[in-house]
Amino acid sequence: MNILGIETSCDETSASVVKNGRTLLSNVVASSLSDHQKYGGIIPEIASRRQLEFITIVTMKALSSAGLKLTDIDAIAYTKKPGLIGSLLVGISFANSLSFALNKPLIPVNHIHAHIYANFLVDKAKDKGQDLFSELPLPAIGLVVSGGHSSLFSIKNFQSFRVFGQTRDDAAGEAYDKVARILDLGYPGGPVIDKLSRTVKDNDIRFLCAPLAGTNDFSFSGIKTAVLYYKQKHGAKKDFSIPRVAHAFQEGVVNILVEKSLLACQKRKAKTLLVGGGVAANTILRSRLEARGREVGIRVSFPAMSLCMDNAAMVAGLAYHCQRPSVKNAVLC
Ligand code: KG4
Ligand code: ZN
Repeated sequence: MNILGIETSCDETSASVVKNGRTLLSNVVASSLSDHQKYGGIIPEIASRRQLEFITIVTMKALSSAGLKLTDIDAIAYTKKPGLIGSLLVGISFANSLSFALNKPLIPVNHIHAHIYANFLVDKAKDKGQDLFSELPLPAIGLVVSGGHSSLFSIKNFQSFRVFGQTRDDAAGEAYDKVARILDLGYPGGPVIDKLSRTVKDNDIRFLCAPLAGTNDFSFSGIKTAVLYYKQKHGAKKDFSIPRVAHAFQEGVVNILVEKSLLACQKRKAKTLLVGGGVAANTILRSRLEARGREVGIRVSFPAMSLCMDNAAMVAGLAYHCQRPSVKNAVLC
């Protein structure tokens, strides 16, 4: 079964064809990021206008890269929520029109759940026949860390994602972006803080995230304010080092994510931790979670780097498990 996925929740416009919920035949992503950079964040009005410009081209390219025609598609999946409403509406209208014109089922998908599903996708070019559904058994805990969300999910099957914990204020990626702004590092903040932190060997600066002990929730707003106050106090000093401040911030965020997500696995007796979202591209989070997971007997999985950011492959993949015989009965995964 070939599912065409459409993703337009924020500043990326993406279309992808995924076969049987597993094999990525194509994944095309256009981004309006460079239009937003001078404002230090996403401007929803600009994002939705660019979505309109990109959507048809990206979809045609996804079909041609997969070597398929529109009539070879068995169903159309799209991101229903969450996201910027103007951007979402472009994908929702486009997918609805295609489904109507082709008389093919329409499958709405939850963007956050799809980020977790990215762990089960295999690129056609790198396919060695691996069975990720057996390698990453459910029930699992899912950790989604992106610019808009930081949540833990308890996952029994692909139709059942239950929130197990979440941020009470900023998302982890949002904290990265705001700290980068405080340190004049530009937007988005995650990749540059990740890169700068790798240059630091020892560091006597410490920033901590609020532990919110006894809960499964996160808080990333306090650590961002701690960086702001630190800069206000020490920023003019000769030995003020942006890489060391960035590194200390990242250590605080990564430590709490590692600790709380592995604890959630133990509480739920889950042997698998599935990580997704833009912050899942963070090199230290990836290496530390995998290492700590091995120590405590939990298989930690991250999507391929290219599937951490917003993409339509994750939407088309998850949709395979949410299909229903008729358009009317499609459920939101
Ligand atoms: O999932 P995503 O592409 O969009 C949302 O759905 O939000 O995530 C974007 C976020 C941004 O906040 C960005 O700073 C962060 O992911 N990010 C990173 C890294 N790469 C992107 N954060 C930490 N380390 C990275 N390497
Ligand atoms: Zn996302």
